[in-house]
Amino acid sequence: MRLLHLDSSAHRAAESVSRRLTDLFARTWRAGNDRAEYHHRDLVADPVPPIGPAYCALGRRVEQHGVPAPVRYDELIETEDERREWDLTRALVDEVRGSDVLLLGAPMYNFAVPAALKAWIDRITFPGVFTGADGSSSLADLRVVVVTSRGGAYGPGSGAEDLDFLAPYLRSWLTKQGVAARNIEIVVADRTLAEIVPGYEQARPAAARSLAAAHERLGVLAGALPVPT
Ligand SMILES: Cc1cc2nc3c(=O)[nH]c(=O)nc-3n(C[C@H](O)[C@H](O)[C@H](O)COP(=O)(O)O)c2cc1C
Repeated sequence: MRLLHLDSSAHRAAESVSRRLTDLFARTWRAGNDRAEYHHRDLVADPVPPIGPAYCALGRRVEQHGVPAPVRYDELIETEDERREWDLTRALVDEVRGSDVLLLGAPMYNFAVPAALKAWIDRITFPGVFTGADGSSSLADLRVVVVTSRGGAYGPGSGAEDLDFLAPYLRSWLTKQGVAARNIEIVVADRTLAEIVPGYEQARPAAARSLAAAHERLGVLAGALPVPT
């Protein structure tokens, strides 16, 4: 049993709502799973390099070879740059494939995911890496908890529902990789800027309710996810 915890807020831990919430989930889950493995990756302190031409060249060769046939990546590599790109990619892919629970801290930046998180997504979404020869996915049993913090509000009745490109995007990307829809939980903390933005004070009670609901939901999820046997 292994928890992979990723954070992508550019704020320091003390100021970041998503970092505080993912930390709460991780501590609660680990307290109930003392034999579980845990790995934390900070995508801001330790950024994933953006993909480059060699990554794309190798990816195209893999596509030409045909996915989901069994892919022998090492035999398709032609240059030193491709070797470097593949080694970097494979290490991050293995981290996900070897995990049972993926915890993603994903604050909303310009209606979408932060670039730090997108760099990780672009890198690990390499042709065929999560697909078996029979078309099955190695992520079929992965449980995913996304924690998203947003300065404003985008839920039902907010009038800004159409501007949320983060939650629908992450849900679509995860299901396309083979994660079961029932295994994806998205926990939201809204109106986080109400505390500091002048003129937004009237939103503070709603912000506090949203944060309290996120705390409660994460506590329930941390207790309900499978434990090692
Ligand atoms: C670069 C940047 C872009 C942002 N864009 C949005 C946005 O599009 N919508 C929104 O509601 N809040 C936006 N915010 C506010 C953050 O979503 C909010 O501060 C959130 O709490 C950040 O997560 P964190 O507290 O974990 O750092 C943005 C903040 C930054 C730094």
